[in-house]
Amino acid sequence: MTEHAAQDHAYADKFRTAPHVIVLFGATGDLARRKLLPGMFHLSISNLTPDVRIVGTSLEDIDDEAFRAIAKKACHEFSTREIDPEDWDRFEKNLRYVPQGGGPKALAAAVAEQEKALEGDVRLLHYLSVPPKAAMAVLQMLDEAKLVKRSRIIMEKPFGTDLESATKLNAAIHQTFDESQVFRIDHFLGKEPAQNILAFRFANGLFEPIWNRNFIDHIQIDVPEKLSLEGRAAFYEPTGAFKDMVVTHLFQILAFMAMEPPTALASGAISEEKNKVFRSMRLLDPREVVRGQYRGYRDAPGVSPESDTETFIALKAEIDNWRWAGVPFYLRTGKCLAEGQRIISIAFREPPKSMFPANSGVGAHGPDHLTFDLADASKVSLSFYGKRPGPGMRLDKLSLQFALQETDRAGDVLEAYERLILDAMNGDHTLFTTAEGIERLWEVSAPLLNDPPPVKGYDVGSWGPNAIHQLIAPHAWRLPFERVWRAKK
Ligand code: BG6
Repeated sequence: MTEHAAQDHAYADKFRTAPHVIVLFGATGDLARRKLLPGMFHLSISNLTPDVRIVGTSLEDIDDEAFRAIAKKACHEFSTREIDPEDWDRFEKNLRYVPQGGGPKALAAAVAEQEKALEGDVRLLHYLSVPPKAAMAVLQMLDEAKLVKRSRIIMEKPFGTDLESATKLNAAIHQTFDESQVFRIDHFLGKEPAQNILAFRFANGLFEPIWNRNFIDHIQIDVPEKLSLEGRAAFYEPTGAFKDMVVTHLFQILAFMAMEPPTALASGAISEEKNKVFRSMRLLDPREVVRGQYRGYRDAPGVSPESDTETFIALKAEIDNWRWAGVPFYLRTGKCLAEGQRIISIAFREPPKSMFPANSGVGAHGPDHLTFDLADASKVSLSFYGKRPGPGMRLDKLSLQFALQETDRAGDVLEAYERLILDAMNGDHTLFTTAEGIERLWEVSAPLLNDPPPVKGYDVGSWGPNAIHQLIAPHAWRLPFERVWRAKK
């Protein structure tokens, strides 16, 4: 082993968890199949969480064998890595299932049996992959099953559906769990490139001095999806794009972009700075929100023919503090759009241009800007005007680009849920959201929730309703990109 590899190993060792029983609520649901089970499989075959047993539970009345079959199919379909059959056999033996209908006693018995099979100081991790309205019943069940001590609990988003329900849910949690046991997950914060925003901003001298309203013109956080409902109508109909994506993921990313440097890259200090951003946000103005619904949504199974649920949303957010006053943040996301992308684009203020000759092309492709791509294959690009070779002075938009996939560290990436489950098992709250932050975001959202503008139709495969252009004028949406990311030669 090289000296570097040995150092990496020693570093990774620090994150190895104590033995755990994970209780997965919603174990047969969409999120469990797409992300949680493949993530837990990967973690448990890695050195990071070697002693883990999983008790799945959900409303489905199935047995261990059926659950193992569901998990196997899910991991083969959704895992991003090759699955070694021997690894699978070892993992599968640690999977149990108990129907939620069996009540607290059956759950307690299944957990106790799994605990017994592990050695050492065994901890519990409860993962609530359930919709907001089912969360209270699960909390009660855990209390009755006496599964609160030595445990931590991961709560899925959206956390409540408005300020009142989020406050109630927080109060209910605190009746059973201490805040230090609670991990409110927002998987966008677990994405490697999202954490890279912090490294990029705070570990370099170049950008932080210009990270403010004197140099930045506006910011776009743009997360269009090609995906449609994927069989999730029961979740999506009462939720919609704003609660599914904006009040959760997009606002959390906005906080990483906008926060002041924390005193430490640690949980309390980061939450404090993020919450200050949320406190400085202006309440959303429904006149600066475009809600859309793709044509055909109302015909989807499980969707009301009169549904007013938005499958698309674009809005302008503002942060009224000394760093950001006057810099609009434009956010957009939606289903069934032209492309699946997750970008943050920072447009710098334009310089004086009159010195350039007519037809030089200065400014012709929008302002110079910095772009973060939040895809697992993380990328960062800095676009700028440079001279086109040859006589005279004509300008082209050029770029400096970094792609994680092109480095020899690409294989070390932990998928967002893997990273966050690992952190929760280690009791690290740094990448989780707080009760205070979430409640403030519902407050910021209240004017929109109370008075939503009517949904406008848009075509499947488009970029949303036409009104998105008025929303952002005189600027323009960066997507679709004029030029594609450069591929490695
Ligand atoms: C989830 C939303 O939280 O995030 C989904 O419920 C959305 O509707 C998904 O598709 C997007 O996440 P990712 O990691 O695929 O960008």
